[in-house]
Amino acid sequence: MEKQARQQIFEQAKVWVLEAGEQIRKRMEQPFKVETKSNPNDLVTELDKDTERFFVEKIRSHYPEHQLFGEEGFGDDIQTLDGTVWIVDPIDGTMNFVHQKRNFAISIGIYYDGIGEIGLIYDVMADVLYTAIRGEGAYKNGEPLERLEEPQELDKSILAINSFWALRNKRVGEEGIHRLVEKVRGTRSFGSAALEFAFVAEGIIDGYLTMSLMPWDIAAGIVIVEEVGGITTQANGQPVNMLEKNSILTSHRDIHQEIVNEYVELKI
Ligand code: IPD
Ligand code: CA
Ligand code: CA
Repeated sequence: MEKQARQQIFEQAKVWVLEAGEQIRKRMEQPFKVETKSNPNDLVTELDKDTERFFVEKIRSHYPEHQLFGEEGFGDDIQTLDGTVWIVDPIDGTMNFVHQKRNFAISIGIYYDGIGEIGLIYDVMADVLYTAIRGEGAYKNGEPLERLEEPQELDKSILAINSFWALRNKRVGEEGIHRLVEKVRGTRSFGSAALEFAFVAEGIIDGYLTMSLMPWDIAAGIVIVEEVGGITTQANGQPVNMLEKNSILTSHRDIHQEIVNEYVELKI
């Protein structure tokens, strides 16, 4: 992607993300409808849908040649990542949004021919915007994030993981996860994959391991973590496929391979 065009798209995306966040903050003061999707715990609200529609309208009118790949399905039916694709999660952490009214984010990754060029993760209630442009570093509210250069060891690490993966489940051997939970200094679960990526980039947690995420959960986070020198792969160390569901390990480089080799046993 040409540098000047990329900068312009980034500036525009930033304006839209902040505007969408402002609308969410206003509208959530009124009652809103909550529905379920694939199961009774998979929530969606009219604000998730309206926020995605907001981005679809903006992108179609300003950048008709770009595509939008979004969770709520108002964008394009994406088969390839050719050209410029906005990968959008209008509200990441909908359960937090409904139950806590905080700890959710708007997540936007902008990819060109499959390469992550721009990442934006907006913690709406905290009014904190994490951003990155490929090759230009990562930022929190415009301040540069430090690269993850201090050596890190697993037994001194904080790992974000949902306790679900320590139960018997169809995706990962629970025994390895038990050993991992014992090994690390502590575990956390924030309930928003995008924020968990942002916190890895910020260095306030050292890794995030999970077994089932969609492209819109991770598209922005991958760009931001990469810009501070972190690494993101599937949980077995294989490259992420940005058109499909993936298991995910994003972390400080020093602990990545050890988690993959010693603790993760994927079943499917
Ligand atoms: C979910 C959140 C959650 C993660 C789920 C995601 P949503 O996204 O990121 O933390 O554990 O796998 O689906 O549905 O709130 O956009
Ligand atoms: Ca999500
Ligand atoms: Ca969502």
